[in-house]
Amino acid sequence: MTYKYNAAMRIAHWVIFIALLAMYIAAYIMTDIDASPLKWEIYGLHKATGSILLCLVLLRVYFRIKSQIPKYRDPVKPLNKLVSHTNFKLLYICMILMPLSGVIMSLMGGHPINMYLFTIPAITKDPVISKFFYTTHVWTSYILIGLFTLHIAGFLFHLIVEKNNLLKRMV
Ligand code: HEM
Ligand code: HEM
Repeated sequence: MTYKYNAAMRIAHWVIFIALLAMYIAAYIMTDIDASPLKWEIYGLHKATGSILLCLVLLRVYFRIKSQIPKYRDPVKPLNKLVSHTNFKLLYICMILMPLSGVIMSLMGGHPINMYLFTIPAITKDPVISKFFYTTHVWTSYILIGLFTLHIAGFLFHLIVEKNNLLKRMV
């Protein structure tokens, strides 16, 4: 009987965690610094890496559908399970919406995405649609931070109050 997520799920969890962290750091640096070649270089990296991240998250969703949540070694209260699993679902939605809104904002705003090996051409230049997805991008970035905070709070609650180290399931 295994109480761990399978290897694909564990690797995907941590690779995506590091990638998301890097995306936030790049985003706040690039929107903060004055216009310069470096700024546009970071914009390019943010867009290309974010687009790859979208594919990775979709792959993770595929792994998730194909696998099962492993059983819990120690009993977890139904309410805790409901809250954490609802949070998982919202995390997945935000992990998809975040890069997807970025891609649509760019391509509908007249900006191609340079993937270094090839370029995804802009679809059109529609400021209204682009602005809508920009707003989605910004709001989702805040919501994702909120859900992440809840996720960590839940983990700490299980660890400290219930003496149940769930991290073993994900490493
Ligand atoms: C999971 C992936 C992503 C994360 C976590 C992320 C996060 C962020 C954050 C936090 C901001 C700053 C928002 C603010 O000003 O408060 C931002 C801005 C931006 N993102 Fe992303 N992003 C992601 C993917 C993408 C993708 C795939 C693209 C485009 C292909 C993109 C394009 C942009 C652009 C153009 C801006 C700057 C908008 C401006 O000039 O103010 N992002 N992103
Ligand atoms: C951006 C950061 C993160 C995101 C988006 C994220 C997302 C997720 C998702 C969606 C799941 C559910 C897996 C599934 O059943 O499909 C999960 C599980 C888990 N995550 Fe994270 N996670 C993040 C960071 C972290 C960090 C920093 C920790 C370390 C404390 C952590 C610990 C765990 C654990 C222990 C589980 C398994 C929980 C259980 O099965 O009860 N996560 N994470």
